[in-house]
Amino acid sequence: MKVLLTGSAGFIGSHVAEALTAAGHEVTGLDVRAGGVEGGDVRDETAAGRLLPGVDAVVHQAAKVGLGVDVADLPDYASVNVYGTAVLLAAMARHGVGRLVLASSMVVYGEGAYECGEHGPVRPRPRAAEDLDRGIFEPRCPGCASPLTPAVIGEDAPADPRNAYATTKLAQEHLAANWARETGGVAVALRYHNVYGPRMPRDTPYSGVAAIFRSALEAGRAPRVFEDGGQRRDFVHVRDVARANLAALAAGREGALSAYNVASGQPHTVGEMAAELAAARGGPGPVVTGEYRLGDVRHIVASPDRARAELGFQARVGFAEGMREFAAAPLG
Ligand code: UD1
Repeated sequence: MKVLLTGSAGFIGSHVAEALTAAGHEVTGLDVRAGGVEGGDVRDETAAGRLLPGVDAVVHQAAKVGLGVDVADLPDYASVNVYGTAVLLAAMARHGVGRLVLASSMVVYGEGAYECGEHGPVRPRPRAAEDLDRGIFEPRCPGCASPLTPAVIGEDAPADPRNAYATTKLAQEHLAANWARETGGVAVALRYHNVYGPRMPRDTPYSGVAAIFRSALEAGRAPRVFEDGGQRRDFVHVRDVARANLAALAAGREGALSAYNVASGQPHTVGEMAAELAAARGGPGPVVTGEYRLGDVRHIVASPDRARAELGFQARVGFAEGMREFAAAPLG
């Protein structure tokens, strides 16, 4: 296929470019940071318009990522992620490009899925600052306030975006669904869990925890683990994420958006990740600080079943193996 890849110079985009090219696709990159690809902003309709004629599919990775610093970031998230996607979709419709693969995120779910002994499956409310201040990190049942058991989250769980980034990722999915319905196009949203691997950007206020720990170890500092370190995530290797994008080019339904978790299926706690990475790097062991960020969710663990059944996607890079490579690999 002839593919336009936005964000092709970024961390995930650069791995997607390699996977698509290796599979025989003809890839044109569009990125604000040029460097071997077409320089251009997704918000600029002339940039995409120039590259779209003759393209079979768009793989849209360009985005402003992370949690952000404060509300001053809101216009940028809305502009790059929401407006940028809207411009791209309109240009695709104009040029008759009928297939989209969208980089979405598990952050659209908000807090993960849980079971209450009495009330069954529940979705807890955001954790209260008073609880967090007292070191009570586990969310409680919204019905009876009793402790909950974490469960895996499937793609049909209701969305509950809890920060600006999450809100804009969900908006991208909705816009893509509108576009698919209106044009008969095929849209596939890949909800990435916690992606890590070579070329991950260094520590910034917009970085995920794996990059923060890896940067600390590089500087000879101990990883600082928030809460009690028991919060669960699914750390998925960037080459597996790239393979999921490749699989998504052959999936989906006309006139609809299909969403898939992209995860390893092997959840770990943040404390375990810090310890594994520190051991692999031979650096100082993690320090559990008890600090918290109000916007953080406690556990978010994916069901990888739908991606396996419908995309034929299964992660290959194991946790220990992936962390060993990441500990030594260069950051972006
Ligand atoms: C992260 C990304 C999100 C992305 C998602 C899926 C950020 C800020 N969040 O969400 O954009 O869509 O993965 O790929 O980029 N923590 C520490 N020490 C630190 C920093 C964080 O212990 O120095 C803890 C946090 O309290 C949290 C966990 O690590 O419990 C994960 O944090 P982070 O990677 O920032 O956010 P996610 O919610 O997992």
